[in-house]
Order: sequence, then structure tokens, then C-alpha cells
Amino acid sequence: MQLLDGKQASSYYRAKILEKIEQLKKTGAPPPRLAAFLIGDNKASAMYVRMKEKACSESGIATRTHILDGQTPESEIIELIKKENADPETAGILVQLPLPKHYDEKKILSFIDPAKDADCFLPQNIGHMFLGDETTVIPCTPLGVMKLLKYYKISVASKEVCIIGRSNIVGKPLAYLMLKENATVTVCHSKTLNLKDVARRADILVAAIGRANMIDASYIKPGAVVVDVGINRIETPDKKQLTCGDCDFDSASKAASWITPVPGGVGPMTIAMLLYNTLYNYVLIKKIDIKMDIEP
Ligand code: GUN
Repeated sequence: MQLLDGKQASSYYRAKILEKIEQLKKTGAPPPRLAAFLIGDNKASAMYVRMKEKACSESGIATRTHILDGQTPESEIIELIKKENADPETAGILVQLPLPKHYDEKKILSFIDPAKDADCFLPQNIGHMFLGDETTVIPCTPLGVMKLLKYYKISVASKEVCIIGRSNIVGKPLAYLMLKENATVTVCHSKTLNLKDVARRADILVAAIGRANMIDASYIKPGAVVVDVGINRIETPDKKQLTCGDCDFDSASKAASWITPVPGGVGPMTIAMLLYNTLYNYVLIKKIDIKMDIEP
């Protein structure tokens, strides 16, 4: 078994992104900015936003984080989004999800200028992506999975790919990206019959369910590549907090030829792709002539 090391791959891609930002600075353009909205007191969201801020500052991308309490009126959030839309140095806007339940997520996101949609959550951008247009960003986690496989020279063409999970953020866009690269794709979910049998057909199995340690060796064809998108917090019997994926790593790694660890697999790739999207938007908005290729 070999590790699909997201830390190593993301540092490769981040170095490429840094090169592009250096190039951009030479044109005299001010650095791009990512504006993040952290609303409410979700601890995991706060941690993710901090990690995103740190990655930006290490890459020469400025940040402005709006930390708002869960009672902030919707109209106030929308006004702040509109201000970021109008700021020429803001290239990426992200609203960390999930929002506290009483907010209308779709409505709030709809005020983000599609040209500044760092996550590719807006229907305009996801629609363009599904039509195969090359002019838009791609959701960070699915893009990160594809770039991770590319880094390790694992081709998906003509392979059986099984994605467990059908979310708008991961499962659905990843199915499209795999299809675009000529994989044969099956998307499974909670109503799938004989899930194990379906999963065991896969040459590449992607777990994006959000259930800690669910996927063990019995779901995996011997020698398959396993990508674990899950990030779950569990409490050990001695009351320690632990981060684990959707795969039972010890068991799954006995069957897999390649497998992502959690943490240190897809997570760092998601963050690298957020930097990429922010820069990509900026280059388009400012019509700067920089090639955005970052692959090995
Ligand atoms: N919540 C979970 N994943 C993500 C992500 O990639 N972006 C945002 N904005 N919120 C999330």
C-alpha cells in the first residue's frame, strides 16, 4: 500500500501557485484578496477558515475575514457581500458552510458576484462547469481529488470509479470531473442497494459520506485506489478528540494499493485549490496574461 500524500502534493501545487503570484506582482497588480465569511459559532468552520487564512498569507494572497455572530441580520451579511463584490482587489468570496439553521444559505450565496465565487457554489458557475466550459472555477474538493490523482500519475480513463456520496459540493461535481477524464462512474448513496458489491467493482473508490470509519476492506476490491474525502471528529474511549475519515484506515489500507490518510489527504488539496480559484478569478477579472497551468 502506498500513501496518496495530500501534504506533499499540495505543497507542489502551492509552490506553482506562488510562482504565478510572483509573476502577477511583477505586472504591478496589487495582490488578490480572499474575503471569507464565518457566521455563527461552528468550531470546525472556525478552524477551516483559520487554515484558509494561513494558506493565503503563505501564498501572497490577502485575506479579509468577516467574523459575524449567529444573530447577525441577513441584510447585514448581504450588504457586506455587496461591498466585497464592489472591491476591485477582492478576487474570491467564500461563505463558510454550514450556516446556522435559521439562515437561507441559497439566498445569501446568491448575492456573491459569480466572477468572485471562490468555491464554485453558484448555479451559474456549476452550470458552466457541467457544460464543459473552461471559463469558470471548479469546486475545490473535487478539483483537489483530481489533482491529487494527477500528481501520483494515477489515470482515471476507462477505470471503474465509484463515488459514495452525492452532495452538491463533492459527489456530483466529482462525478462530472471523472466523466470528463473518461472514467466510468457510479454514484452511490444511502438508498443504493448492495453498496458493498457496487463499491467492490471499483478500481477507484471515493468515500464522501460523512460517516466516520464506515468503509473497511470489505468494500474494496483488492488493489483499488481509495480516496477518503471525509473529515469526522470522534471521541475516543478515553475522551480524546480525534479526526478520522470515512474509511477505517487500518482495515482499508490492507486492501488498497493507494489510499489517502486523514488528516493529510484531500483536506490540504482542497485548500490549495481554493488558492488556485482565487488567483484564477483575479487573473480573469483583471485580464492579466498569466497561464494558469499547474500540473506536473
Ligand atoms: N463547508 C465544508 N466544505 C466547504 C468548502 O469547501 N467551502 C465552504 N465555503 N464551506 C464548506
